[in-house]
Amino acid sequence: MKLLVTGGAGFIGSAVVRRAIADGHAVVNLDALTYAACLENVASVADHPGYAFVQGDIRDGALLARVFSEHQPDAVMHLAAESHVDRSIDGPGAFIETNVLGTYALLQAARGYWEGRGRPDGFRFHHISTDEVFGSLGPTGKFTETTPYDPRSPYSASKASSDHLVRAWHETYGLPVVLTNCSNNYGPFHFPEKLVPVVILNAIHGRPIPVYGAGENVRDWLYVEDHAEALLLVLEKGRVGRSYNIGGENEAKNIDLVRMICAILDEMRPEGAPHDRLISFVADRPGHDLRYAIDPARIREELGWRPSVTLEEGLRRTVAWYLDNAAWWRPLLDRDGVGQRLGVTA
Ligand SMILES: NC(=O)c1ccc[n+]([C@@H]2O[C@H](COP(=O)([O-])OP(=O)(O)OC[C@H]3O[C@@H](n4cnc5c(N)ncnc54)[C@H](O)[C@@H]3O)[C@@H](O)[C@H]2O)c1
Repeated sequence: MKLLVTGGAGFIGSAVVRRAIADGHAVVNLDALTYAACLENVASVADHPGYAFVQGDIRDGALLARVFSEHQPDAVMHLAAESHVDRSIDGPGAFIETNVLGTYALLQAARGYWEGRGRPDGFRFHHISTDEVFGSLGPTGKFTETTPYDPRSPYSASKASSDHLVRAWHETYGLPVVLTNCSNNYGPFHFPEKLVPVVILNAIHGRPIPVYGAGENVRDWLYVEDHAEALLLVLEKGRVGRSYNIGGENEAKNIDLVRMICAILDEMRPEGAPHDRLISFVADRPGHDLRYAIDPARIREELGWRPSVTLEEGLRRTVAWYLDNAAWWRPLLDRDGVGQRLGVTA
């Protein structure tokens, strides 16, 4: 298949691009190259004959029409987004612009292209979303695909809006869509403003490791390469109009996750041990959701997918990758806002 991947220079998008090329697909990577992008993430496939890169903004309808007409994709995998909750608290406008209006522009362009080709059944618009649209759980229960939406941050509200638009374009215009809502990803090429790389890099540098509140918030953790595999499976085998929850079956409190990373670093980099002495509890994020948990029964039973690595194994691979790839992360530490506490305005 020829895939149009949006946001393919970001963390998850680049894992999808690398995996799609390895699986024999052709890929057009459309990315605006915001602060969160890094073309090094796709350097390993940049010279592949099946790979093309277009720098452009998903809000630009004229550009999108040109990209569809020139590249004639069989499917869209839509990952381009503003993705950092803390930044959404300080500056929600960019999240509405890209996640809502950008998704709208992409849907319109995809619809125009699909209708112009005679509405082929095989075309797919795969929208990649988050479990955060479902809101916050108490100590028990899990999100299923029928859990009511209850977003609580500007980020999750903008993603929820985009999910609704995608469903509406299916119901109203017949566009063949699939949706996925996944839990927190981690792994190689994770931009150093998110929790896992922040912990690893602060620990390596002997700097305080910030933990929001008491570290009691619970997340399910999904290794990014497992996620990329699941996304390509849903694209090829998922039922049109349906959404699939994707989780790692790895729930952990933030504080336990941080301690696991510190213990792995104690082993791999003993000169800084014990790294957990650097843990520093800081003011909580406003509106911080207590717990997210995914019930992955649908993707497991319908499509036979389950994650391949445990949290322990995925974290070991991730820590080892950061220790080996300082040339990738070092320049990113100078980007705007990285290393600063964001999203604390009440
Ligand atoms: N990271 C997670 O744990 C997680 C979990 C669930 C869902 N998601 C979703 O997966 C997708 C990818 O997340 P990520 O963590 O890889 O994000 P990311 O921030 O690492 O990458 C986003 C990419 O989108 C590009 N982009 C942003 N605005 C754009 C625009 N207007 N036009 C074109 N490109 C634009 C950026 O340049 C960047 O390369 C997002 O839709 C996010 O909501 C992420």
